[in-house]
Amino acid sequence: MEKLAIACDHGGYTLKEAIKKQFADRVEFLDLGTDSCDSVDYPEYGQAVAKAIIDGEVKRGILICGTGIGISIAANRFPQIRAANCTNATMARLTRLHNNANVLALGERLIGLEVAFDIVTTFLETEYEGGRHDRRVQKMS
Ligand code: RB5
Repeated sequence: MEKLAIACDHGGYTLKEAIKKQFADRVEFLDLGTDSCDSVDYPEYGQAVAKAIIDGEVKRGILICGTGIGISIAANRFPQIRAANCTNATMARLTRLHNNANVLALGERLIGLEVAFDIVTTFLETEYEGGRHDRRVQKMS
């Protein structure tokens, strides 16, 4: 079973809990918070998942805030992180194939539950294509 880090701010808390429940039978989640809808600062959670990947605790992660924007910007401050904010499964598929995204960012206030589940499923199941993309991916780090 793949182990994934997951974290959110208050704007993503409800979706984080729904994703954990939906994928419990196929993913072991390392939940790095937050643990309620009380207001917190999204950079701390983006950094927590980035560090879990950099430290080798997990290979990939999921981040959720209201838009997916702030928390993905925070994670992408780290050269080893390629966080992609996706609003549909096509984006998730292409960012895995072409960018080897290691973090999926979601915006709870922008997408519904079924769309979010489709995005997560696609992120989990799509392998990086490599080949011509390797040079470009390496240039980002
Ligand atoms: C919190 O209100 C909101 O700003 C945050 O969840 C996120 O959308 C930031 O990018």
